[in-house]
Amino acid sequence: MAGDWLADAVVYEIYPQSFADSDGDGVGDLRGVIDHLDHVASLGVDTIWFNPCFESPFVDAGYDVSDYLRVAPRYGTNDDLADLVEAARERGIRVLLDLVAGHTSIEHPWFQAELHADGPSPEGDRYVWCEELPAWAWDSDLPGTPAWVRSPGPRPGWYLKNFYDEQPALNFGWTETPADEPWRDGFDDPGPRRNRRMLQDVLDFWLGRGVAGFRVDMAFSLVKDDQGKNAGAAAATQVWRELQAWLATAHPDAVLIPEGKEPRTGAAMGFDADFMLVIHPEHASLFDNGGAGVLPFQPPGDAFFHADGLGSTRTFLDGWAAAKADDPARPVLLGTADHDFSRLRTDPRTPEELGAALTFLLTWGTVPSIYYGDEIGMRYLPGLPDKEGSICNPGYNRSGCRTPMQWDDSANAGFSSAAPSDLYLPIDPAEDRPTVAAQEQDPGSTLHLVRRLVALRRATPALGGRAPTTVLHEGYPFTWRRGDSHVVVVNPRREPASVEVDGLAGARLLLGQGVEVSASGLRVDGFGYGVLELG
Ligand code: BGC
Ligand code: MG
Repeated sequence: MAGDWLADAVVYEIYPQSFADSDGDGVGDLRGVIDHLDHVASLGVDTIWFNPCFESPFVDAGYDVSDYLRVAPRYGTNDDLADLVEAARERGIRVLLDLVAGHTSIEHPWFQAELHADGPSPEGDRYVWCEELPAWAWDSDLPGTPAWVRSPGPRPGWYLKNFYDEQPALNFGWTETPADEPWRDGFDDPGPRRNRRMLQDVLDFWLGRGVAGFRVDMAFSLVKDDQGKNAGAAAATQVWRELQAWLATAHPDAVLIPEGKEPRTGAAMGFDADFMLVIHPEHASLFDNGGAGVLPFQPPGDAFFHADGLGSTRTFLDGWAAAKADDPARPVLLGTADHDFSRLRTDPRTPEELGAALTFLLTWGTVPSIYYGDEIGMRYLPGLPDKEGSICNPGYNRSGCRTPMQWDDSANAGFSSAAPSDLYLPIDPAEDRPTVAAQEQDPGSTLHLVRRLVALRRATPALGGRAPTTVLHEGYPFTWRRGDSHVVVVNPRREPASVEVDGLAGARLLLGQGVEVSASGLRVDGFGYGVLELG
């Protein structure tokens, strides 16, 4: 597959509206990112993933695109993006954009044209319309599940949405086309074909401007099926395989990364990696401590990275084994957090607990993705108001992980010169909130630890994305070997923990805290962590 570089990458996710505001309008922008690229480079990361930065009415924070080929004015211009790509390249950093492949905004001219037509387009509809609801119609009003929305007219009938009502699903066809539902298109009907060509055009446009690839939103639900339960995944994969075939000659270095794990359909896969999504059990079982109104997946206290030490790594390890089963070389991305969930530092997890978490995240055999702000241990802020669709339902508030980056002690933590009431979201009000500037001065800070871990990873192939990872102890202290030469141990619980490990004679602790090494094993203080080179 294309983009062999991905296996060695360390990714940094930037939520553009919250990173750095250069023009004082309270919203982050691309010039702001350019101004802070030295910070990004100082972490040792080599790839930035930007959440969508395209023209949008921002009903879902930009995941409702109204022009795929134009940077949203609040972020800057296409030229600013080109400058950013160039400035990043000078620092050895690639830029990935976010492709919202499955739906647009209702404000997209394509949707407006079909809404104002009296019936199906002779060239094939780009969206999914029906004049009468089928008997099996989806009736969920949960965002994130496909459902029919009554057309506001003039076109009669209903359109299919993917997430919010303002995000109409693009028409990539259906797995079945029964005669009594003539409005359903098959995979190769004109509308779906137009949309597949559109995806290629969008990729070509940005890849031609130096972008390194895309993270793809909701990649496996493009082709619909009767139940909306993923029977379309195999057909959706076909869409990506076709695009990969074209990429292989048109842009051989480009990568496509799915939002989550690629479904195994038995056929060849369409993406260059899997993503172990923060919202899925593999990640949640490690880090979701039930804090702060974000979809507690499990009783508080069950996360493995929890001071009480009652959790298990089993769900993660099973997911990891499954992801690696068909092809051990296939990269698997694992984020510290992301824009859809909590943060690593969500109450009750404290800064002193972050070392173990980050040591795991940055030395496992994954491709790590550091969510902006996690390198200084920014908090998830509970109870914030809705901003651009961040609150999906009362139990699911994404605002708290989307607050402005905390740079220094100046006004608005150095994020913006706007009045505090004009900021995209409020700054963490805590007096002791972490900042980049303060952590620069403190060699024991989370920031310095992240830099040391990333530097060690990059200097040590055995700690990177290609070398095998072998579990030595799956409980506390979690212990694993990388390649033949390194052992990593983390103890996320409050109480000390010990493990017997063979072959430690002569081992050297390269980095760590609270780890005692003997010839027969390791004793690790509460919240301790260590990376060892075997003798
Ligand atoms: C994104 C969400 C977004 C949703 C709908 C997800 O992949 O990460 O932020 O709300 O898709 O586009
Ligand atoms: Mg701005």
